[in-house]
Amino acid sequence: MSTPEWLESWSDDEGARRVRDLFARVFGDDGAPDGVWSAPGRVNLIGEHTDYNGGLALPTALPHRTYVALRHRDDDVVRLGSAQAPGELWTARLADVAPGAVTGWGAYVAGVAWALAQDGHPVRGFDAVVDSCVPFGAGLSSSAALECAVAVALDETGDLGLAADDAGRAALVTACVRAENEIAGAPTGGMDQAASLRATAGHALLVDSRPGLSALESGTPVPFDLAAAGLTLLVVDTRAEHALVDGQYAERRATCERAAALLGVETLRDVDPARLDETLAALGPHDPDGVLARRVRHVVTEIDRTARFRDLVAAGRADEVGPLMVASHTSLRDDYEVSARELDLVVDAALAAGALGARMTGGGFGGSAIALVRADAVDTVAAAVQDAFDAAGLRAPGFLLAPPSAPAGRTA
Ligand code: GLA
Repeated sequence: MSTPEWLESWSDDEGARRVRDLFARVFGDDGAPDGVWSAPGRVNLIGEHTDYNGGLALPTALPHRTYVALRHRDDDVVRLGSAQAPGELWTARLADVAPGAVTGWGAYVAGVAWALAQDGHPVRGFDAVVDSCVPFGAGLSSSAALECAVAVALDETGDLGLAADDAGRAALVTACVRAENEIAGAPTGGMDQAASLRATAGHALLVDSRPGLSALESGTPVPFDLAAAGLTLLVVDTRAEHALVDGQYAERRATCERAAALLGVETLRDVDPARLDETLAALGPHDPDGVLARRVRHVVTEIDRTARFRDLVAAGRADEVGPLMVASHTSLRDDYEVSARELDLVVDAALAAGALGARMTGGGFGGSAIALVRADAVDTVAAAVQDAFDAAGLRAPGFLLAPPSAPAGRTA
């Protein structure tokens, strides 16, 4: 049997050194960057596929971050290099950035500049390079980490002052979500960007996506001191690749919006969990195969589970959240149908090895699962998951430790 592969985070010094070296290689002796900024990936404790339904989610920031070295320009040209795309220089003019007009990973970067300009902020061109220890395609929000690192870099180099307080950070979240939705073309909710910009070390962030809330009401820190509780959050990147991810995500979102319209509510957040049965019955005539009912049941019960998870954590009872995590996974697997064989395997193996709770995290269809384990059982649980993957003949997963970490900001 093989041993677990641990995906370590970088120190800020290492991240800064990497992007400064890369900046010099890509842009030669054109000078040094104005600085280095970074932003974390996220892991969601509970509250999945709820954000675009006006609901609750409870993510934390990962110690794994994306680093950006950036230098402003006096024209409107954007030039980008990436350690993950060696030898390529992505180039655009800000004047040409518009929905449908740019493609590739640079759309996530240029889209942030576009969204800030849409909000009336003065935005100039820039040269930048990026490098990251957030695993790609793992459901850990590498794209949000990229957007948010760029957002805090443009905030500071443009003297916008938004990153200085939580309300300003909420405005940056909105810009990053617009970049992803309108320029990169991914119809995601806002949980990932909120976590990367607003979650703080030692805390989870209760993200409340109810329409019309103020910036401050939309994100509440929840103390989540895992180490003090003797607990560890283990993340398993299954490395399972699934086709049609974007289409499936968009389809789930469209189905929820259709259900809300049929029920006459603005979002599924407005469905009272105590009246779920009669709500599902009302969908019956429009729902011959029961798909709408299953999707709605997931969303409504998941929002309720998220509130109960938050209450337990706030009461210092984090070691009692396991059953809520397991119920979340079951709901995502059976009602929302976004799990995958590899995710189910992580959950089953981790629980059998003594994890308090386990569930898929993020959008699903592959990606990562999490397990909440007693600190002294981490190696046992990781080994059990590794063994289960070996026995099933699956590609080896990657393992991460996820203490709730710091948000996006200036690194060097
Ligand atoms: C992805 C999206 C988020 C959220 C999750 C599912 O991570 O980017 O907005 O919808 O899926 O909870």
